[in-house]
Amino acid sequence: MKIAFFNTKSYDREYFDRSNKNTGIEITYFDGTLNCETTELTKGYEGVCVFVNDQLNADVIAKLAEHGTRLIALRCAGFNNVDLEAAARHSIKVVRVPAYSPNAVAEHAVALILTLNRKTHKAYNRVRESNFSLERLTGFNLQGKTVGVIGTGKIGATFCRIMQGFQCKVLAQDPYPNKDLQKKGVEYVKTDELLSRSDIISLHCPLTPDSKHLINKESIKKMKRGVMLINTSRGALINTQDAIKGLKKGRIGYLGIDVYEQEEELFFKDLSENIIQDETIMRLMSFPNVLITSHQAFFTREALEQIAFVTLQNIQDFKNERPLKNEVSA
Ligand code: NAI
Repeated sequence: MKIAFFNTKSYDREYFDRSNKNTGIEITYFDGTLNCETTELTKGYEGVCVFVNDQLNADVIAKLAEHGTRLIALRCAGFNNVDLEAAARHSIKVVRVPAYSPNAVAEHAVALILTLNRKTHKAYNRVRESNFSLERLTGFNLQGKTVGVIGTGKIGATFCRIMQGFQCKVLAQDPYPNKDLQKKGVEYVKTDELLSRSDIISLHCPLTPDSKHLINKESIKKMKRGVMLINTSRGALINTQDAIKGLKKGRIGYLGIDVYEQEEELFFKDLSENIIQDETIMRLMSFPNVLITSHQAFFTREALEQIAFVTLQNIQDFKNERPLKNEVSA
């Protein structure tokens, strides 16, 4: 079975080539994104394998169907970039990797918290320039602080457990509370209460029409002044313009993001010699209390191995007409 892989980097090729032994899957790697301009490349492929920023809207999916594509294999968990109804209309199956390493993402959220709090990124640069001063490096103890977690699925639950290890009080919000977490002392509360009581808020829910801009002018007003806001989930959970206003007013004291609303044009690319046209990210980067990483929370050896293994298994299940255990549908 021939599969066109889009948006691939050296590490994708390394891990997929290592796992793709005796599967009967013939992979062609493309560097570029799958979008309206690149659909011609899919001619002759029964399946496409895509990542978080490939745009599988109704037009792209109609073209895929025209070219005979019958499978969209996401090599990620989130599927907000795929028009599932369009896929169903054209009888194209969609599969994903539901959990490759909840720890990878949860631990990265903790890395953002610790870096923003203890300013190790600044200390590192200072010391390299023989500046051993501690001025303006003051942090706070995590012990005893209240952490609000929005979305306690696989990643959110792992994050709750880690923060309890720091002796934080953990509040949570999720339409489906996790009983095991409740037994271990995580307190489920209404969103407004979580916003007003938390010193740190971390987002771990998926991006859906309901959760888009969950963090906006109104919700920021309800937060504690100086709150730390962490987003490793999807960029559009936060209304970035409202977050910038919150930062300017000091309402948001720290912002750590691994995802960004307009990340498609920027993330995963080396643009160090380019003039960045995105004014919003440039404004965000100008704040001393904002830390941005470019969608790397998943990026551990363990997660890459699991992504390759499960994606190839999903494609083989489709090829061999076995039930698709990781199918997503409208
Ligand atoms: P999951 O499906 O296990 O958990 C999501 C949880 O969010 C569920 O418990 C669900 O009930 C809850 N939820 C849904 N809507 C909600 C809302 N409006 N408010 C509060 N809770 C809500 O998903 P998992 O594996 O924990 O992943 C979470 C998100 O993390 C993914 O949707 C994806 O966007 C993001 N992600 C980011 C990565 C990165 O590298 N930065 C890598 C992998 C996932």
